[in-house]
Amino acid sequence: MKGVVLAGGKATRLRPLTKVTNKHLLPIYDKPLIYYPLEAMARAGITEVLVITNPEHAGHFIQLLGSGREFGLKIAYELQEEAGGLAQAVGLAEGFAGQDKLLVLLGDNIFTHDLRGAVERFTAEQQGAVIFAVEMDHPEQYGVIEMDGERVVGIEEKPQQPKSNLIQTGIYMYDSRVWSLMEGLAPSSRGELEITDLNNVYVQEGTLRCEILDGYWIDAGTSHDELLSANIAVADLVRRGEI
Ligand code: G1P
Repeated sequence: MKGVVLAGGKATRLRPLTKVTNKHLLPIYDKPLIYYPLEAMARAGITEVLVITNPEHAGHFIQLLGSGREFGLKIAYELQEEAGGLAQAVGLAEGFAGQDKLLVLLGDNIFTHDLRGAVERFTAEQQGAVIFAVEMDHPEQYGVIEMDGERVVGIEEKPQQPKSNLIQTGIYMYDSRVWSLMEGLAPSSRGELEITDLNNVYVQEGTLRCEILDGYWIDAGTSHDELLSANIAVADLVRRGEI
């Protein structure tokens, strides 16, 4: 399985911190934010990772991360030249991934869960996709998952009236049919190809599994408060040796 870390976007919710730099380069305690998903890739046993970012900041990522040796990874880079959405960014990984399955991490997600078991399970499966869920008190700012027993029946992106407290984190696994399945996607009302729409293609097909994430998880890029909260939480996790 190959890894993809999405680190583009304009991060308007974090202005002015992101006026001249990329959100994934902002500090979280003692490291830049993007270090955490890259370390999670290495923990999961993935060795080849594509970092997708925007042209303005690509040079900074190359300077910071280099070949990836420091992480025990081989890092390649790809540019997302316009704000076309997370699913469009995943589409840019086609040449890199070849016939391999993919583990996609949003570059602003920090978590302690070890994905190694999930990677092994999904590697053994024939086809499909996997999302990783957590319960949140304010699900409306995320992709909200509707379940019927064990089965996912739909995911709604930032709904005003969430149907549950279960949300999809920025951790996704796709089979190698993802490239042809995403051809049917249309831009959302904000003009972007949404990761939620891509995941819903697998829901419709009945091949999307949902695993519950253990431990600490945060999307540090959601707001200034989440960024601060991630800094405080990570400082504590580092002191306790849990991340
Ligand atoms: C994205 C996804 C959303 C998901 C979230 C998790 O939202 O669109 O479904 O719940 O990541 O981090 P964004 O943070 O880009 O608004």
